[in-house]
Amino acid sequence: MTMQTKIVSIEQGLDEAAELIKNGDIVVFPTETVYGLGANAFDGNAVRKIFEAKGRPMDNPLIAHIADISWIDKLAVDVSDSAKAVIKAFMPGPITVILKRSKAVPDEVTAGLDTVGIRFPKHNVARQFIKACGVPLAAPSANTSTKISPTSAQHVFEDMKGRIPLILQGGECEVGIESTIVDMTVDVPTILRPGAITADMLVKVLDKVKNFDGNIIVAKAPGMKYKHYAPSCEMVVASSEDKAIFEYGRQVGLQHNPVIIAKNDYVPDQILLNSIRLNVIRLGATDEEAMRNIYAAMHEAQDKYDYIICQDFGDEGLGASIMNRINKASGGKRI
Ligand code: TXA
Ligand code: MG
Repeated sequence: MTMQTKIVSIEQGLDEAAELIKNGDIVVFPTETVYGLGANAFDGNAVRKIFEAKGRPMDNPLIAHIADISWIDKLAVDVSDSAKAVIKAFMPGPITVILKRSKAVPDEVTAGLDTVGIRFPKHNVARQFIKACGVPLAAPSANTSTKISPTSAQHVFEDMKGRIPLILQGGECEVGIESTIVDMTVDVPTILRPGAITADMLVKVLDKVKNFDGNIIVAKAPGMKYKHYAPSCEMVVASSEDKAIFEYGRQVGLQHNPVIIAKNDYVPDQILLNSIRLNVIRLGATDEEAMRNIYAAMHEAQDKYDYIICQDFGDEGLGASIMNRINKASGGKRI
C-alpha cells in the first residue's frame, strides 16, 4: 500500500498531525536524538501500524514519549526514588528510563514485557506535538527495520515515503544518536543502550550504575539482537590512521570508491607523497559533534561512495556511545 507522504512545518501541520494520531494513524516527528515514528501508545491497533510501516519484528518493544513528567503516572507503577532522581535530573532530554508498566499500556508497545520505556524529548516540535495529541506516543526511530536512523526529515522521506502520511519538519537532530536507555527496575540501574547521557553523568544522581555491557543488553533490550543502523555498502573501522590510509589505497586499487569518516584532526585531505586527494566526510572537532553528525555522514557515504572506512572513537564516554552505533553499522569489522 502506498500513500502520499508530505513534510510539513509545525506551524502548518500541527492540527493535522494531532488529528491523525487521534484517528489511530501514524506520524513522524523530530526529536533531539533521531526522528521518531509515533502512534497513540494506548491504542494497540495504532501501534501495530508502526511495526507494519517499519517492517519491525513485533518482539522488539517501543518507547513511550511524553510531554510532561506527570504523564509517567499513566504509564508506570512503583517508580523508585532513584528512578525519580534520574527523571528529575535528565528529563526532558536524550534518555529513556525503563520502569514497571501500568496495565494501561498495551502489549504492542512493550512486546509483552512487564516493563515500559519512557522518554520525554527536549525538542520543541516533539513537545508541542505530543502535547497537542494529549496522549503518550509510542515511537521507534523512523527508519525501515535495519536501516540507518534518520537525523533529518529528508532522511525519513527517502527511506519511508509511501509508507507514512506525514512528517513534521524539525531540522537536523542536535544529539544525533538514539537516547541512552537505563533500566531502573533492577537492583543496580543498568545502561542497556549508551547515548549522550553517560554512566559518568548518571552516577551523579545514583549510587551505582552498571555501564553498558553487550551481554546484558542482549537479555534486557530485545532490539539489540537485530542488525541495526547498517549502511547499504561495506563499512570497516580502522584501528589507526595508518591502517585507514593503507586500506583506502587498497580499495582504490580494487577500483572501489572509498570514503573515510572521521573527525577534523584525523588524516589529511591530501596525501602529499603521490598527491592523492582522499574522500573524507568530516564529523567535526569534538566527540559531541561526531555524535551529532555520524548518521548523516553514513547516509551521505552510502549515497556517494561504495566503501566506508571509519575512525575508531575509543571505548570511553561519548566515544563509546558513538562506537556502539559504528560497530553495529560495520558488523564489527575492523582493520
Ligand atoms: O532516541 C530514541 O530513543 C529514539 C527517539 C525516536 O526517541 N527512539 C528509538 O527507538 O531509538 P527504537 O525503537 O529505535 O529503539 C528502542 C530500543 C529498542 O532496542 C528496544 O528493544 C528498547 O529500546 N526497549 C524498549 N522498551 C524496552 C523495555 N521495556 N525494556 C528493555 N528495552 C526496551
Ligand atoms: Mg531504531
